[in-house]
Amino acid sequence: MSKDFIALSDLSPEQLRRTLALAAQIKLNPRAFADACKGQTLAMIFQKPSLRTRVSFQTGIYQLGGQGLYLGPKDIQLHRGESIADTARVLSRYVDGIMARVFGHQDILDLAAHASVPVINGLSDYNHPCQVVADLQTIQEKLGDLAGRKWTYVGDGNNMAHSILFGGALMGMTVAVAHPRGFAPDPEVVTRAREIAATTGGAVQITEDPAEGCTDADVVYTDVWASMGQEDEHAERLKRFAGFEVNAAMMAHARPRAIFMHCLPAHRGEECAAEVIDGPQSVVFDQAENRLHAQKAIMVERMGRR
Ligand code: CP
Ligand code: NVA
Repeated sequence: MSKDFIALSDLSPEQLRRTLALAAQIKLNPRAFADACKGQTLAMIFQKPSLRTRVSFQTGIYQLGGQGLYLGPKDIQLHRGESIADTARVLSRYVDGIMARVFGHQDILDLAAHASVPVINGLSDYNHPCQVVADLQTIQEKLGDLAGRKWTYVGDGNNMAHSILFGGALMGMTVAVAHPRGFAPDPEVVTRAREIAATTGGAVQITEDPAEGCTDADVVYTDVWASMGQEDEHAERLKRFAGFEVNAAMMAHARPRAIFMHCLPAHRGEECAAEVIDGPQSVVFDQAENRLHAQKAIMVERMGRR
């Protein structure tokens, strides 16, 4: 296993299954892991805002016996031209792990290349792997076996779409991405997800028709139409994404017992209707809770005492 946690496509299905099993164990019996990262420090670099990632990592490392150190955009010297490489080398002399939320994915790769300690990706413009481990844990809790299930993502072919494609394919799921024209996921990600799916019995379906994407889905998932850093495009995106709101009519294409998921933060009346996210099919707060358990598993595997 790599020292770092950067993209789900770096993992084998077996490695991901082990992380999910550990996350379930930690959720069931957190006290058994109270010393798993005793005395360790996790540096948490944030170039963007965060509620879930920040609080669940800081709380998570504390519950494992360690401490988290929040390093916001103005706290360190990156914005004054200190290189990522030097930042990684210096932090490695003080801390036992680095979690980072960045704009350009290359920043995560550079951190990992120059840090001697594990680097965990807390979201980049390219992907959001921690979120999808928590998502898979949630789907397993709600629906049981993952293999053979249909996971439909409706909306922007963004960082969330990319990690869902990798995570779903690894677990032998059918992943459908329904996106408006011009907002497709990265073709290289789709190709790689198809290669993975070919080895796991999964499948990948890409469509511009959300109703077709949602047909027979076990999981319907959406995300904001304008991601962090795209605030200027918000008005234009509202127009381009018309017809892609996940509302009750959209959910009616899915299986009757389908669950609704969202990584949050959500915008009711844009990518999802209140009737769905606040309705009986929604599991979004269990999903948010599982960020804590899933990330504790990711930290224990990489930073924990052996
Ligand atoms: N889902 C998620 O990563 O939320 P935050 O941006 O609040 O961390
Ligand atoms: N696509 C969203 C995900 C937030 C968790 C963003 O990058 O802002």
